[in-house]
Amino acid sequence: MKVTEAKFICGAVDPRGFPKDGLPEIAFIGRSNVGKSSLINSLLGTKKLARTSNTPGRTQQINFFKVNGQFYFVDLPGYGYARISKAQRQELQRLLEKYLAPRDTFMLSILLVDSRHLPTELDLQMKSWLEQHARPVLVVLTKSDKLSNNELRNQLIEIRAALGTDQVIPYSAVTGKGKEALWNSILTQIGVGN
Ligand code: GTP
Ligand code: MG
Repeated sequence: MKVTEAKFICGAVDPRGFPKDGLPEIAFIGRSNVGKSSLINSLLGTKKLARTSNTPGRTQQINFFKVNGQFYFVDLPGYGYARISKAQRQELQRLLEKYLAPRDTFMLSILLVDSRHLPTELDLQMKSWLEQHARPVLVVLTKSDKLSNNELRNQLIEIRAALGTDQVIPYSAVTGKGKEALWNSILTQIGVGN
């Protein structure tokens, strides 16, 4: 995929701030710090469009990036971060729900799981929720550069079994591994030519 234009359009804390032009949206979903913002930057070939951080809980609003004027990448706040207040966590949860359930233009979910760990209970819940709501899910295993080939092979077997799917793409935002495979899957799913 040749990205000719990638623009940050808006960061929303409320549905009134979501884009209104009706373009299809691909949402990046996963626990805090799993690498959502880094994956977006890597796919778009930029370093800093989506803000990344070592501190979990970096992304606290829903950020929309318009790609080639054709569709949006949506960077969602991560879930499952324990070290914020209960009130803050509930607020993030409510914001996620305001996007995920009612959004017509939300066509495809990219669910991110850290390649070094098994999916958490929240990841499994999220996956089945998305499937129940007829949102196709592509699973991406992040940070694969942190594992040897052998370790990655074993993790792939275990993670596929835990998720009950073979549709799992190993990725590294550091080396770019998986980039072509993931772009191909995304474009096929949303019906946009390469
Ligand atoms: P929140 O916005 O807090 O939910 O986090 P996020 O899921 O957007 O994660 P982010 O992209 O900010 O990345 C978290 C940390 O993981 C950062 O320190 C990144 O540099 C690192 N990271 C992300 N992807 C990779 C990867 O593929 N390889 C390696 N080695 N590090 C990565
Ligand atoms: Mg982020």
